[in-house]
Order: sequence, then C-alpha cells, then structure tokens
Amino acid sequence: MQVLVGVFRHSGYISIRTSMNSGRIAFTSIGSFSILRSSHSRSVCRVPVRPSGRFLFGSSFLQRGPQATVLSSASRQQTRAANLVTMAIDTQTMTSLRNDLIEMIKRTKAMPILVRLAWHDSGDYDARLGTGGANGSIRFDKELQHGGNAGLPGALNLLKPIKEKYPNVGWADIIQYASVLSIEVAGGPKIPFRFGRVDAQSENEVPPEGRLPAGGPPFHKAEGENPNEPAPDADNPSAHLRRVFYRMGFNDQEIVALSGGHTIGRAFKFRSGFGAGEEGTKYTRTVTGVTKGGSSWTPDWLQFNNMYFKVLADPNADPELLKLVTDKALVEDAEFNKYVKVYASDESKFFADYSNAHKKLSELGSKWDPPGGIPA
Ligand code: HEM
Repeated sequence: MQVLVGVFRHSGYISIRTSMNSGRIAFTSIGSFSILRSSHSRSVCRVPVRPSGRFLFGSSFLQRGPQATVLSSASRQQTRAANLVTMAIDTQTMTSLRNDLIEMIKRTKAMPILVRLAWHDSGDYDARLGTGGANGSIRFDKELQHGGNAGLPGALNLLKPIKEKYPNVGWADIIQYASVLSIEVAGGPKIPFRFGRVDAQSENEVPPEGRLPAGGPPFHKAEGENPNEPAPDADNPSAHLRRVFYRMGFNDQEIVALSGGHTIGRAFKFRSGFGAGEEGTKYTRTVTGVTKGGSSWTPDWLQFNNMYFKVLADPNADPELLKLVTDKALVEDAEFNKYVKVYASDESKFFADYSNAHKKLSELGSKWDPPGGIPA
C-alpha cells in the first residue's frame, strides 16, 4: 500500500521522507507540485531537484548520507499538516559553514558590508502587506540594482563560493548567518540564529524599490504600494525612521539599538552619496585590503562596540566622524534620545538589546522549513 508522505517544492535541494532501504517511491506531478508516495516513512534524505522541476535520483538517493536526519514524530506531523518541505542540516554542516564564513570574514574584513547586505535583504519587509523580508531576494539583479543597494553586489560575490559549497543551505540563511557572524567577529554580541528560511524563488518576489530608509531629505513614504512617493513630512527624519521601522514591526527602542549597526563601517560618496570619497578621512585613509576611503561613524570602525552612541551624544565629536541626518535625529528626538543615553553609558545593555533586535531583523517575514527552523 502506498502512503502519501508530502508535497514538495520544485527547486533547490529538498528533503524527502522515504524508506532507507527500498526504492518503492512514486512521484506524480500536479500543476506546480510533485506528490511523493512511499511504502515507508522512516527517514529523511535530501534530494536535488532539477530546475525543470524533475527529481534527480540516482544511487545515492536511497542511501542515508551524513546529512540525513530522522525527524521527530512531532515535526513529522507538522510537516504533514503544513505540506512543507523539510530541509535537514546536520551539526557537521553547520560547523563547517560557520568556519568557512568566519575564515572569509576575517580574511576580507568585510564585516560591515555583510551586515548591510543582510539588513537590506530583510529591511524591505512590509508587515501589513506581508511582502519582502529575510528571503534572499536581494540576490536577484532587480533588487540589487535598487539605488539603496549600491556597493552590495561585492558583498554577494563574497558569499557565492560559499553558497556553491553548501547548495542545500538557502541564500536567505547564508546572507543572514554571514551578518550574525560578522557582528561576532567584530567583537559584538552573539546573536541567536536558526536555519530554514525559505528562499524567494524569482524576481517576482522582489518588493517595490523605496522601502529602505534614506540618510537625508527629501524623505519618501517608504510604505504601501508606492513607497517611492514623496512623504507628507519629507523633511522630518524621525518621522521617516518611524514610518520605515514601524512598517517592519519595530519600536523606538529597537530603532535606536539597530542604528548602532553603524558602529562598524563607512559611507562612501561614490555609493550612497554620503561621506567622503576615495580620499577618506584620518580614520579611513590608510586602510589595507579593503575599499579605500569613505567616512566612518566611529574611529575604530571594524570594532563592534557602543562608540556610535558616544560619538552621537557628544556635540564636540570630531567632525570627520559621520553623522547622517537620520543619526542626528536619534539625539534630537526626545523619545529616541532616552535610549541613546542608555547605550552610550552601558555597553552590555546595548549588546543585549542589539542582539534581540538583530535576531528579529534577521527573521522578518521569513517562512520556515521545517516550521520553527533549525537552531544553529
Ligand atoms: C536607521 C536608518 C538607516 C539609514 C538611513 C542608513 C543609511 C546608511 C548609509 C547611507 C550607509 C552608507 C552606504 C554606503 O555609502 O556604502 C550605510 C552604511 C551602513 N549601514 Fe546603515 N542605515 C540605516 C540603518 C542601518 C541598520 C539598521 C543597520 C544594521 C543593523 C545598518 C548597517 C550599516 C552598515 C554596517 C553600514 C556600513 C557598510 C560598509 O561599510 O560598507 N544600517 N547606512
């Protein structure tokens, strides 16, 4: 007797529930789904699927490889109920991926741009419309070419060889994991992480341009169907920050904590239009092994700490350090400023709040496979 064990997507690597020692498996294609039937349902194996949507199966198909995992009965039921694809990732693969990412991050010192890549992938989430978010859609040219993403193709290129080495880990996971590890490598807090974000499948899932915040006026609407339209309060940076981050589901405290991401990195005239060009500042002029120039928010801009808030709160800070209009708004707005003061004087509070907010950012709008994800 054949048992229906799941309905699966037609791309990437998937896991199937099947017998470890029997080949009695049948697929039926109905529209965009394949239905898998098997006489047993004891284990899970990963099976590559051709872009055409056909399952690729050969001799390894029925062998339980090092990455095979046995599902608990609870998650088996969840999987059945939701008809979702279950992606198995074992601890060995997780450790190897972590080591490869950390090696690349240390070699390239790319922490800031990897954090920015991940934030721009997830930061286009619109909670009301339920679109955008941490789904890897930034890998598509259509999104990479959005004005706010200038410079980010370089960051994506750093991740491509790693993605190729771990084809069964999704783009959204790799982008967000690289960011979380970048914060750690730069000396920041450990941010809890789980695998299993479902990747956007095509450019059709790229949201309209204009959901990311602007660093200066005139500010755009940043929400709804036409986010690029001018905002009614186009010269008000606090209103802009609230519109953008409330749209994602964040509150004032989280806006301030997340802005602390600017404790690392630089702005470049030739990318965003903000900051210095190649000539740089006294803090960025003599860099080796990374893009030259730009303006940093802090003197030690590869070190994650609470210096961003100390500089921000200091009216006599070195003018060679960058303060965007949206950074200054955090001091000028009384509600935001409460948190600036706390973070400027208490680094461990900043680390704790940043870690929570960054975790939330890294999961905005994500759909999980398996449901609930797989903790790293
Ligand atoms: C609050 C609203 C925000 C605005 C208006 C803003 C704006 C900008 C701008 C204009 C740049 C310069 C880009 C370039 O010229 O290459 C930049 C860089 C950066 N942003 Fe933000 N950002 C915001 C929030 C965030 C958040 C929430 C994070 C992360 C949690 C973040 C992380 C970074 C990092 C790490 C860089 C440096 C990238 C590099 O060095 O290549 N930003 N941001």
